[in-house]
Amino acid sequence: MNKYYATTPIYYVNDVPHIGHTYTTIAADVITRFYKQIGYDARLLTGADEHGAKIEEAAKKHNLKPQQYVDQISSEFKQIWDKLNINYSRFIRTTDEDHIKIVQGFLQKMYENDAIDQNPRLYKGLYCVGHEKFMSPEELTDGVCSEHKTKPIEYAEENYYFKLSKFQDQLETLISSDEINVRPIARKNEVLGKIKQGLEDISISRASLEWGIPLPFDNKHTVYVWIDALINYYTYGKEKGIWPADLHLVGKDILWFHSIIWPAMLLSINEETPKQVFAHGFFTINGQKMSKTIGNVIKPEELITKYGVDGTRYVLLSAFPFGEDGDFSWEYLDRSFNADLANGLGNLIARIAKLAEKVNFKVTETTEIFDPLVSQKLKELKFSEALTFIWQDIAALDKKINEVQPWKLETAELTEFLSESSIKIRSIALSLKPFLPETAEKILTQFSGEVKSGPSLFPRIR
Ligand code: MSP
Repeated sequence: MNKYYATTPIYYVNDVPHIGHTYTTIAADVITRFYKQIGYDARLLTGADEHGAKIEEAAKKHNLKPQQYVDQISSEFKQIWDKLNINYSRFIRTTDEDHIKIVQGFLQKMYENDAIDQNPRLYKGLYCVGHEKFMSPEELTDGVCSEHKTKPIEYAEENYYFKLSKFQDQLETLISSDEINVRPIARKNEVLGKIKQGLEDISISRASLEWGIPLPFDNKHTVYVWIDALINYYTYGKEKGIWPADLHLVGKDILWFHSIIWPAMLLSINEETPKQVFAHGFFTINGQKMSKTIGNVIKPEELITKYGVDGTRYVLLSAFPFGEDGDFSWEYLDRSFNADLANGLGNLIARIAKLAEKVNFKVTETTEIFDPLVSQKLKELKFSEALTFIWQDIAALDKKINEVQPWKLETAELTEFLSESSIKIRSIALSLKPFLPETAEKILTQFSGEVKSGPSLFPRIR
């Protein structure tokens, strides 16, 4: 059996889940469900990134021990993914015991392979806790982080270094040949451009931070949170014998970590690199950056209350091409829900079911097919385009009903019309399954055996 191993980023638990996390996670779930449906042993890994200065600070603010704090918040993430029907194979936490062991083994190997300096170097730099990284002068305005508006911490401490620069040529070859398939193509070119400017060695340990995994070869240091976090993919993949990952799905802000640092770490221990790294875009809310300060952060619960689980999955993925930046507004999402789900899909199913019920129509043939066009688009991670194809089929069937006017037909002709239509409906449901798992299942059940009309699938929003 072919395997397909996809991952989402593991989310920092210093924050509550929002629409940004939701977007990535739903996309990853859709692609994994799709591969499962076409016969792969498909796995999805998601989880929680629980170490680092940011978490240590947040815990202190809440008067909690870091462990208590992360236990609390990571369970919020897990709950919301369960609610959204995310079929993850494991919810990994970087405080899980097996992960900690694997991280230490990984770093030990890097050290033995001379990918990490034998001794720490004195490092001076400006560290932004909000970013969990050292900042370059361009990222600061008047000495303050341009994004977080906070003054970075002046660091001067001994850090162990990963010799990233050693891997420059190898990375360039792997990425330009698509052996590591960095997508969309514009992002691949961006990454290649940056490699050409030269790679510098990076600090991978902290001497002053307690809340982290101790370095195996020097336990006065903890592992830098990003290095610890990236290894999560390997922890699960290695344990299950499914390494390398087929897809790391990430937002564009963390592409560098996934397409450069992570593959280099793997090369340094002679492991295989991931097959694809896909970076999706960032979205704004009503044209504004989403931020706690502006107060426009949308939580997944709000979407579920309004659109239901499948409705939420649909409105997010259909809104704009995956990989590009986009904008969300409640008006837009409402319109898309009403037009495509309530009127489009919901109405079509209701119309045909009503006609079928009238003549006690029974579905006997179930030779539905997964639309190859949809399948192709999904393999390219073009979610909104895949949905457009499905909605073209929905519109075509709607149009046919209007033309044929089946309510005027004699029983024999009507039965024939219903047979054809129900095959089409079952095919539509099949292609919809990765996106709208519950709805698709409902439709498939409704259109097997005797067809009964049921409650409306998506009641209109006013
Ligand atoms: N913990 C790290 C990832 C470690 S992976 C080894 C992290 N976490 S995060 O919670 O800050 O962000 C997780 C993901 O959410 C990122 O891929 C990021 O791009 C995505 N998004 C956060 N805000 C977003 C938008 N406004 N729009 C789209 N995606 C956004 O980074």
